[in-house]
Amino acid sequence: MIKKAVEDALNEQINAEFQSAYLYLSMSAYFQAAGLSGFANWMRIQYQEELAHATRFFDYVNERSGRVKLAPFSEVQVEFSGIVDVFETTLSHEQMVTDLINKLMDVSIQESDHATKSFLQWFVDEQVEEEANVGQILNNLTLIKGEGQGLLMMDREMQTRVFVNPFPAKA
Ligand code: FEO
Repeated sequence: MIKKAVEDALNEQINAEFQSAYLYLSMSAYFQAAGLSGFANWMRIQYQEELAHATRFFDYVNERSGRVKLAPFSEVQVEFSGIVDVFETTLSHEQMVTDLINKLMDVSIQESDHATKSFLQWFVDEQVEEEANVGQILNNLTLIKGEGQGLLMMDREMQTRVFVNPFPAKA
């Protein structure tokens, strides 16, 4: 049986992952309205990844015979001052998620919950990748100054991103 402190922290994480999905879907809509369908696609895949994360946490709480408690979402940002603003917001959001995962890991350690520690390790590694990917996109945007032919090429590249379920056995 899962301890209450761990269960509460996992429930908060389910909400944070859904909240991330909601934010990235909003960003996808922003790009779509701006005529950047490749960037819109990239954010839509990001949204799907966050849904997969949320669902994996949901399944894990159930696997441990815990009680999932879904909480309301907060309002998400709808308008941005440009592409760089969107990805800077994404980076700071992912840094916040990394902090949450680290705090969740701390709770698991305090409660000697080795199963949850092991479960969380995938997310610890994933956050390193997420922050690196967004940092790379910000670098590329700086190189092309966020405009012109470079932006068009980048938009085409963003179009090629496809969703790969990170937890196929759990789908
Ligand atoms: Fe599920 Fe982007 O962290």
